[in-house]
Amino acid sequence: MIYLTRRFDFAASHRLFNPEFSDELNWEIFRDCNNPNGHGHNYELEVTIAGEADPKTGMLINILLLDEIVREQLIRHVDHKNLNIDVDFLQDIIPTAENICVVFWKQLAQHIPAPHQLYRLRLQESKNNFAEYYGPVQISKN
Ligand code: NI
Repeated sequence: MIYLTRRFDFAASHRLFNPEFSDELNWEIFRDCNNPNGHGHNYELEVTIAGEADPKTGMLINILLLDEIVREQLIRHVDHKNLNIDVDFLQDIIPTAENICVVFWKQLAQHIPAPHQLYRLRLQESKNNFAEYYGPVQISKN
């Protein structure tokens, strides 16, 4: 098994809050990220694909194809957008790096051409924090 990672950038704004909480509680939990008019991030998304290299090309997946898929399914929907308002597939979640990673996985995994598989998404939100997702937990039935 070989792993190939490609990095993508996008800029977006968001506001962290839970509508079920009072203004005071939202402020207590989310602090600066709760600013009523939002704030922005320069996000970095790493997409890791797992599989075997094709002996004829030496490639796991053609990066040009991967770029096209990730841009079509994710980046064009979120770049220069307000993640709370503008993005259909991010409605009804609190747009933390953790939640965005999980939703991105649901959007993207099905579009990676077989036999390759999406292996990891890593979303860097700021210099000091990022979330990683390796897909839904597989529960053994044995
Ligand atoms: Ni933020």
